[in-house]
Amino acid sequence: MARIPDAFIDDLLARTDIVELIASRVPLKKQGREYSARCPFHDERSPSFTVSPTKQFYHCFGCGAHGTAISFLMNYDRLEFLDAIEELARRAGMEVPREAGRRQSNPDGQALYDILGEAAGFFRRQLPGSDKARAYLRRRGLDEATCERFQIGYAPDSFDALRNALGTDEPRMKLLERAGLLSRSESGRVYDKFRDRLQFPIHDRRGRPIAFGGRVLEADAAPKYLNSPETELFHKGRELYGLWQVRQANAKIPRLVVVEGYMDVVMLFQHGIETAVATLGTATTGEHAELLFRNAPDVYFCFDGDRAGRAAAWKALESVLPRMRDGRQALFLFLPEGEDPDSIVRSEGAAGFEARLKAATPLSDFLFDTLSAEVDLGTLEGRGRLAGRVRPLLEQIPDGAFADLMKQRLATLTGLDAAGPAQRPATPQPRRNTAAPRRSLVRSAIVLLLQQPSLALELEPPFRFAVLQQPGIDLLVDLLGLVYERPDIRTGALIEHFAGQEVHGSLQALATIDLPGDPAAWRTEFLDAIQRLDQMTIHQRLDELQAAIRAGGMSALDDAQKAELRELQGKLPR
Ligand code: UTP
Ligand code: MN
Repeated sequence: MARIPDAFIDDLLARTDIVELIASRVPLKKQGREYSARCPFHDERSPSFTVSPTKQFYHCFGCGAHGTAISFLMNYDRLEFLDAIEELARRAGMEVPREAGRRQSNPDGQALYDILGEAAGFFRRQLPGSDKARAYLRRRGLDEATCERFQIGYAPDSFDALRNALGTDEPRMKLLERAGLLSRSESGRVYDKFRDRLQFPIHDRRGRPIAFGGRVLEADAAPKYLNSPETELFHKGRELYGLWQVRQANAKIPRLVVVEGYMDVVMLFQHGIETAVATLGTATTGEHAELLFRNAPDVYFCFDGDRAGRAAAWKALESVLPRMRDGRQALFLFLPEGEDPDSIVRSEGAAGFEARLKAATPLSDFLFDTLSAEVDLGTLEGRGRLAGRVRPLLEQIPDGAFADLMKQRLATLTGLDAAGPAQRPATPQPRRNTAAPRRSLVRSAIVLLLQQPSLALELEPPFRFAVLQQPGIDLLVDLLGLVYERPDIRTGALIEHFAGQEVHGSLQALATIDLPGDPAAWRTEFLDAIQRLDQMTIHQRLDELQAAIRAGGMSALDDAQKAELRELQGKLPR
């Protein structure tokens, strides 16, 4: 994946106002120098979430969430890094550097999004005019608010309605084709792909239509659903229908309910279950599983109780196993023959569906029950076979308490050690010493610099203290260098340079310290700390030179070193 140049991120953050960005999503109240709110990332009564306009970052004293405008979008809107960058760039009217753009790899990627948006609008506008489509919706019990929310539309019964409306010239025809909205006959004739169908737009993570699912209105027409083909923008193994709406409806997503169909998602929402998503006519992929857990800690998979449903559920289980880190839960809900979430929620209401979710089968039970049913646990042979089948699955679970518990369960069932005879449980690693480092001068210099990066400009490079052997010196020098390169950088953007590095977390923590005093006091304190670091450097060098003398007499030093010794001694306070 191409990297976004740091300089671009700096510019982007410099042109973004984090207060404005967050205020458009969370109501902020001004409080002294900062803004506060009830934290959008955890439940709380009193506000412990603060946004600093001067540092350009946010911090929650309750749950510890913190970061820049970029991390806010990633966590609140649940965007991926590049999407967050693109979103901020769009707000700031900036262009993400071409080589870094992922989806914008073709020059008119935006045009493709635009024409898909126009198509969604076109289908949407056709709906009120079609008696047939409206009658169908009535029959299915879909109300207007739900249609609006999911932007459900109607593709007219015509080979060229969309083409005529949007394909006004050759380039636009090309775009329509690239967007997967046209089909081409063997003779080369181009016509509307979706005809006489109810249109469900599939939205991407930023709410842009990237594809459609079209359902026939008549019971005997086929295929029942027609999906957009894979295009530059649409890869069905990566998208979840309804995820955009779930994100819109929930600041925090406690759980996701994965169902099979468009109608299921839409009807669950209509009944107030606003956490439903669907895979798009495919088995659950690893990418789906990743996306699901990135959005919610608990994931419920709903399937038909029939054989095909169980097979699909097993596929889903296989896709989530490697992602079952501690704190995540996968559960399986099997519905009675002939039912789906749409029919259940209509007959039993939201409460009925919720009750079924509550009784869902945890992954552990589903796994062991399924495999145990295939063997005779009453015999050694059967238990051996079970162990042989379960072990490779358990090996995929990331290390942690859940993995341990699953192995224990296998051991209980079979009387065998889950890891097999070769592998003994590892002795617990001694805990690394995590005692907080002594508060040092270096630390206070860094804290002050994070408070007010422009302090760096008061110093004159090269920095004498750069050679000081003290923890944190290199970091301090790096920070100073960054501010020198970009004199107007703010705290948030400064820290962003260390994203992905071990120090990132510590820097964020240091940056949240609310220093008493005012800029003038900080300046004095900073210059004082630097001066003392310089003094320490002089002592360090003197010690080196004096150690050399102790070892080999004055003749161990050459003339330059002798001069240096005299000079340094002269610099010490008397
Ligand atoms: P179903 O065919 O099981 O839906 O398709 P259903 O419940 O009988 O009919 P509706 O949706 O309630 O009217 C479930 C899902 O499988 C995919 C679609 O995502 C659909 O929502 N599917 C189904 C296709 O992609 N193509 C098809 O031809 C059929
Ligand atoms: Mn259905």
